[in-house]
Amino acid sequence: MPDTSANTTSSSPETSADLVVLGAGSGGYACALRAAQLGLTVVLVEKDKLGGTCLHRGCIPTKALLQAAEVADAARDGHQFGVKSALEGIDMAGVNKYKDGVVAKMFKGLQGLVLSRGINYVEGTGRFVAPNAVDVDGQRYTGRNVVLATGSYARSLPGLEIGGRIVTSDQALNLDYLPERVVVLGGGVIGVEFASVWRSFGADVTVVEALPRLLPAEDDFCSKQLERAFRRRGIMFKTAARLTGASQSEAGVTVSLESGEQLEADLLLVAVGRGPNTAEAGYSEAGVRMERGFVLTGDRLQTNLPGVYALGDIVPGFQLAHRGFAQGIFLAEEIAGRKPSTIDEDGIPRVTYCEPQVAAVGLTEAQARQRHGEIETITYDLAGNGKSVILQTRGAIKLVRAKHGPVLGVHMVGDRVGELVGEAQLIVNWDAYPDDVAALVHAHPTQNEALGEAHLALAGKPLHAHG
Ligand code: NAI
Repeated sequence: MPDTSANTTSSSPETSADLVVLGAGSGGYACALRAAQLGLTVVLVEKDKLGGTCLHRGCIPTKALLQAAEVADAARDGHQFGVKSALEGIDMAGVNKYKDGVVAKMFKGLQGLVLSRGINYVEGTGRFVAPNAVDVDGQRYTGRNVVLATGSYARSLPGLEIGGRIVTSDQALNLDYLPERVVVLGGGVIGVEFASVWRSFGADVTVVEALPRLLPAEDDFCSKQLERAFRRRGIMFKTAARLTGASQSEAGVTVSLESGEQLEADLLLVAVGRGPNTAEAGYSEAGVRMERGFVLTGDRLQTNLPGVYALGDIVPGFQLAHRGFAQGIFLAEEIAGRKPSTIDEDGIPRVTYCEPQVAAVGLTEAQARQRHGEIETITYDLAGNGKSVILQTRGAIKLVRAKHGPVLGVHMVGDRVGELVGEAQLIVNWDAYPDDVAALVHAHPTQNEALGEAHLALAGKPLHAHG
């Protein structure tokens, strides 16, 4: 348990510990759990709910919605498999009950875990007031080390006020009705996932993306595959399109584009990225080096202040829960003096859970070319993969390798390919050569086999591949 002592130099009561973590999202709680496991005394401060965005407003509830969407598609498409079924409709209250049940179960489990590790969990809004201190409602928590882990919020655009029919993912997750027509602003990860859910539920959906392709951060192979699939699904999208404004009334929302076009909808989802939650936490006032609201760190996640570290969405890089977990564990071990290896950001897998899924790890073709000069790529169509044909999914896998070198990137599009990213990340993170993977026997019929086949092809010995 933390060693608690009265502070003699300050008027506010004080608690001290080896580590104070500000923010109990994926990164913050992972750090606290690992630190406690390593014998450190830990204070974990959270103003909202333990588990943060991922558990309450992000990964978990959105993937529950996507699961409900998959069930809706299966009901609608039963005929493809000779099964007589039809989609009668979507009961949003039922969907929300299922989704909230999933979140509640995970929340309870996490609360039990934090309690069982003897972490001093403090509910309240924390402010970083000095390099070793966090203030929570007048109570001061000092740590030999402090980890800043305050996460991110859904951004909007200037002039676009969130409210009513104009929502971010926060409100979109809790709609008690199903919109008939939706405009999704932003064709990044959140945009395409929600577009996918609403389309599966039967809505007319239009995605408006400022850059020339959907999922612009991924390899353009993934964007092309996804755009093709979205067209087949009747999801409309406008790329290289800019919004000039949006207005709402009782009847609907009108979205105006720079082209002069106007889109009418029941709902506008704003999904233009997430900003760091740093403005009100006292960081810059206390001297933390920042840039555009993000906390700058070295590769060991240290800030410019001694004993002060940062992790997760407030540190530039992928805003992903599993990056936060990894950084949290890393920092706990670092603070405990275990000298852990630094995290290779290029090796962090990425999955977008729309239908079809998009999963990737490592470098895109463009990045690989820039860093390694000569490269080789291969694409393997899932049409050659038995399990994918059984699932009636389309898609492909693209591999990128340095010329005569290891595999640098794996990019996949298709139903369930998110589950293949585990093998893909071992390949990329262990610097495997195509021959290494080609020599491994993949179970038949699985979709993993497609990864094996793609590596056989890249190793110059394709089996079920044309050309
Ligand atoms: P994002 O950065 O993935 O996508 C935002 C998109 O909005 C970009 O494509 C951008 O070009 C576009 N955009 C920006 N301003 C625009 C404008 N004025 N008009 C039209 N388009 C505009 O951010 P997103 O989707 O909001 O997600 C936030 C973060 O959450 C991301 O880092 C994402 O990785 C993470 N996340 C991860 C998930 C996963 O791992 N499955 C699921 C959901 C979110």
